[in-house]
Amino acid sequence: MEQTGFNARYEGYRQAVEQYLSGLFTEKTDWPDLYESMRYSLLAGGKRIRPVLTLEFARLAGMDWKAALPAACALELVHTYSLIHDDLPCMDDDDLRRGKPTNHKVYGETLAVLAGDALQPEAYRLILTAPGLGADRRADCALVLAEAAGADGMVAGQVLDTLHAPETEAELTEVHRLKTGCMIRAACAMGCAAAGASQTLGEAAGVYAENLGLAFQIRDDMLDVIGDEATFGKPIGSDREEGKVTFVDLLGVEGCAAAVRNCTEKAKAAVAAYDADGFLSALADSLAERKK
Ligand code: IPE
Ligand code: IPE
Ligand code: MG
Ligand code: MG
Ligand code: MG
Repeated sequence: MEQTGFNARYEGYRQAVEQYLSGLFTEKTDWPDLYESMRYSLLAGGKRIRPVLTLEFARLAGMDWKAALPAACALELVHTYSLIHDDLPCMDDDDLRRGKPTNHKVYGETLAVLAGDALQPEAYRLILTAPGLGADRRADCALVLAEAAGADGMVAGQVLDTLHAPETEAELTEVHRLKTGCMIRAACAMGCAAAGASQTLGEAAGVYAENLGLAFQIRDDMLDVIGDEATFGKPIGSDREEGKVTFVDLLGVEGCAAAVRNCTEKAKAAVAAYDADGFLSALADSLAERKK
């Protein structure tokens, strides 16, 4: 796909996501501090890769992608909660996120924990009240998210990452699969679930996401070493400071770049039969080269 066509579609999705998210948690309440801290992280300018994946798979499965926006944004709420908690002193203890001070640096640890807590049920509310989805599709989407974010998904990955000191390539691959891969998988699966996609498209989406997720987290580990803080929007050297072993320690920067390319090619091959205009392929390539 031409770069301009890719950029235009990505921008269209991204702007729709921003608009939807900016309409959330705006009502007047007696606890405006909670809403403010939720909106602070939600609207801090993430890349929105996960909702973009959801919307593209919904489109590929033949749906008007706008009807999948609540489900796509629900995933971004859960992702945002995971970042707020990931940055806490008891986790990675980071001060910078999306180019801004982390939530707990601005609002304190108590409100940061509670903002993350609140974002989770609010995500399910969005899915379960999505106007463009029937009851079955809503239930399917909610289950996709619950399985990805839950005790055998992203949270399991965070437990291994922070408490089990993974150090072999097999252990790190498992951590990456859980802490990052599960939510990327869910993003693709959510689009399929919202649209009632065929089983074959669902399976292709799964293989695409598995490889994209691994490439994405290896690239994240690389950028923690070779990235530029102003562009990356996160502190450089945080993993080392936290005493973490990453793929960079095992494979070196060049070895990581090769692993990212390898996973990216596998991801692209998995969806080649469905990705007629090449958006998914261009997305995988752009993530392999990303600087932020
Ligand atoms: C950060 O995810 C957490 C990881 C899984 C590495 P992103 O790199 O997608 O972060 P945002 O949403 O763009 O800030
Ligand atoms: C975070 O992994 C994964 C989740 C938040 C679930 P990292 O700890 O590597 O992510 P960053 O680098 O802080 O974004
Ligand atoms: Mg972490
Ligand atoms: Mg972190
Ligand atoms: Mg990281």
